[in-house]
Parts: sequence; C-alpha cells; structure tokens
Amino acid sequence: MANIGVIGMAVMGKNLALNLESRGYEVAIYNRTHSVTEEVLRENEGLNLVGSESIEKFVGLLERPRKIIIMVKAGNPVDMTIESLIPYLDKGDIIIDGGNSFFRDSERRYRSLKEKGLNFVGLGVSGGETGARFGPALMPGCDKEVYQEIKPYLESIAARAEDGLACSAWLGTGGAGHYVKMVHNGIEYADMEQIAETYFLLKNLGGISNLDQADLFDQWNKGELSSYLIEITSNILKEADDTAKSGQLLDYIEDISLQKGTGKWTNLEAVELGVDSSVLAAGLNARVMSMLKDERIKASHVFSRPQPNLGGMEIEELKDVARQALLATKIIAYAQGFALYKAAGAAYGWDLEYDVIAQIFRAGCIIRSSLLNPMMEAFKNNKDLENLMLDPYFTGLLEENIQGLRDFVTLAVQNAIPVPAMAAALSYFDTYICENGSANMIQAQRDYFGSHTYRRVDIEGSFHHEWE
Ligand code: ATR
Repeated sequence: MANIGVIGMAVMGKNLALNLESRGYEVAIYNRTHSVTEEVLRENEGLNLVGSESIEKFVGLLERPRKIIIMVKAGNPVDMTIESLIPYLDKGDIIIDGGNSFFRDSERRYRSLKEKGLNFVGLGVSGGETGARFGPALMPGCDKEVYQEIKPYLESIAARAEDGLACSAWLGTGGAGHYVKMVHNGIEYADMEQIAETYFLLKNLGGISNLDQADLFDQWNKGELSSYLIEITSNILKEADDTAKSGQLLDYIEDISLQKGTGKWTNLEAVELGVDSSVLAAGLNARVMSMLKDERIKASHVFSRPQPNLGGMEIEELKDVARQALLATKIIAYAQGFALYKAAGAAYGWDLEYDVIAQIFRAGCIIRSSLLNPMMEAFKNNKDLENLMLDPYFTGLLEENIQGLRDFVTLAVQNAIPVPAMAAALSYFDTYICENGSANMIQAQRDYFGSHTYRRVDIEGSFHHEWE
C-alpha cells in the first residue's frame, strides 16, 4: 500500500510527490483532471508512484492512518477537496494542506476536522519548484502528536542546514504553520525590496554598471550578507540579453512588479495586531506603486528632480555604505517579522518558538541567509527577547552599520531616489531608540479635541485639561 498520498499534480504537488518517492516512500497521486495524473505517471515510469482516477480509489490505496497532502489552489478548492475526501476517511487520518492557504482558513479547517475525528495539518512550504523537489523549508501547524506521525516524511524531504538539522519542526496548532509562512513571505518582500533599492541607488547615483554590481553582490555574498537572494541578484545582474543582443536582460525588464497576496496578508495582520511592520509594508507598497507606471511617467514630466550629487563621497565608500545599509535594514525587517510572531503567539494561543522558526528558515526557502544562524542563537539564548535588535550580537551589528544606513538614506533623499524600505527601517530604529518621543503632543491633541485624557510623567493617574 502507498505510504502517503498527494492530491494536486501542478508544479508544487508533483515535485513534492517526486521528492517523497525519492526518499523511499510509495506515493499515491491524484489530480482533479485525470489526464494530468496519467502524464505524471507516464513521465515517471518505474518510480514508486500509483495513480487513481477517483478520490475513493485514491483513498483506498493508502495505508492507515492515511496521510494525504493537498497541493491545490488556495481558497475554495482546498475546502472542496477536503469535502470530497471526508466520506472515505476514518478517524485518525491526517489531511495536510501544503498550499499557500490563509492561516485563518487553516485554523477553521483544523477545528472543523477535529470535530469529525480527523487530523489537519496546515503546512507552509517554501522554496518554489526546486525546493519542493529537492528540499523545501516546511512549516507545519497541527497537534503535536500528529507531527510525530508525519515527522519522518517531512524531515526526510525537507532541506537541511549546514549543521544537518532538518528545515521542518512543529510550530504550533492549526494555523501556526501557515502563519509562519505568511510572515516569511512578508519578510521576503522586504528582503527583495531592500536589494532593489540598493541596486537602484548604486546604478543611478553611483553610476555603477550591472557587471560591477554583480561583482559587488558576489563579494557581499561571502560575508554577513550571504543569502540566496544576494546570490541570485549577482547572477541576475550578470545575465546577458539574448533578444536585444546587447547589455544585460535586467535593463530590458519592465519596472512593474506583481504579487500573489501573501505580502498583503502579512501587513493586514500587522495592522490587526498593532505591530509596526513598516519595512515589510514598504516591500508591499513598492510593488503597488510600481503598478502606477503611466502615472509615474506623467509625474516625472511634471516635477523636476535635483541634479545627482554624491556630496564628495568616493565610489568605494558608497559601496560600503550600501553594504551597511542593506545589513542594518535586513536586521530591522526581521525584528519586525519576529515582533509579528510574538504578537500572534499571544493573540492566537500558539507557543511559537522563535529560534525554531529561524532554524527552519536557514535552508530551502527563499529568505535563507547566514544571518539566520545568529538569529536562532539569539532566541535560543533568550526566549523572552523583546526585540531582535536588543540581542547583544545584533545590537553590535547595528551599532557598526546604522551610520551606513543613515548615510545611504540621506544620499537617497537628497537625490530624490526612492528608498521606502531603507527609510522605513531607519525611522523604525530611530523611533525604537527614542527614550522620550513625540506622543506627548498626540495625547495633548487628543485631550484637546476629544477629552481623551492623558497621563503625566510626574503624577500617577489619568488627567483631562480644560484647554480653552
Ligand atoms: P501550482 O503548484 O502550479 O502553483 P496551483 O495553481 O496552486 O498550482 O494549483 C493548481 C492545482 O489545483 C491543480 O492540480 C488543479 O487541478 P486541475 O489540474 O484539475 O486544474 C487543482 N485545483 C484547482 N481547483 C481545484 C478544485 N476546485 N478542486 C480540486 N482541485 C483543484
């Protein structure tokens, strides 16, 4: 009998099934449109895959308790697939949704299946097609005992970090896994945006060519900034264009970026929980603004811009300032991401372990980077760390690099170069380290027009003043 089943033979489902098969499991596969199943079987003859045309037969192929991974389009198709399975399942069977589902849907599915005696796992999967096939980062949310049952499968297909630890671990019940994946994507948007801003300033103010930037990113990839996204950025900058036959492909790609929604969810959630996610929001808003291409063209003819001026900064210095700015912004973006995990843990009753989250992100996923090792250590050393920036290692890194971020943002502002993520990171940092901020004025205004009262710094209690 098959050890595990996968429903949905599109890119992600097929590659997860092949990954499982390559680890020694017999895998049953099913797709709504049967011809797709047949094609997968044909393409992979000789492998330990079995297919079926009906859901009933597919379920019948599986050993008990059944473990079924659903990899279909997020939203209603997941509910429809679950509904179609229920009549054929037995108590204790495990349904694993590995799609990009909204965590509240996973929470709902977890609860309603529990009432029926069925187990549900909301599984965040990161790493795209290659990750799914050869080692993704896996973020499961389910009952702890259920994780024990699926652990051998998940840990055998997951990516492994350099220390050999698998990028899969139990994160919490119900929606916890998809929540962790959602914020992962929010951080991913921010990570990508910071890199884009760096490239843009180095190009437009520094006049640094794509190829020279490729070398620079390559060099950065050997240090603290080492990450998958920095590595692919270097490759992207080098890629020649074979259509126009000159220059690099990057220069021919339209500056309009698209999105699928998880970055939006992260920011809606941040607003909901009252967490400042400004750097993550900048990653989202930059994409939103990029869509306004026609308006941007119009506005660029309406308003003038200052003449580019490096203010006497040498190119080598500019490169180092950019490195520092990237590093500082990255730390601050993660500080915001982990603040979201903290708030969610409290709001939804998950006991999220931040060191485990950092551990999972270290390989297989898009935001994998060497900085995740000290992040894992930071949360391991202090489970109650209020903010990543207050961990001694990250405090030290910020002390070393924050001036670079300040110089970078200053240059950008003076030269009308948009750096929303970098500027947001700096403002968040400056706000966070400000012992006495400006909110006394807000409170005074609130009390002035709405009698909302204020607290005093010198006397206990709540006060209202007759302002006029
Ligand atoms: P990808 O992995 O490429 O990102 P996706 O768009 O997330 O794919 O999911 C596509 C899969 O969802 C397909 O297997 C599709 O089945 P078909 O080949 O029959 O289209 C499946 N899917 C979409 N809607 C579905 C539904 N209502 N019920 C069952 N499966 C559905």
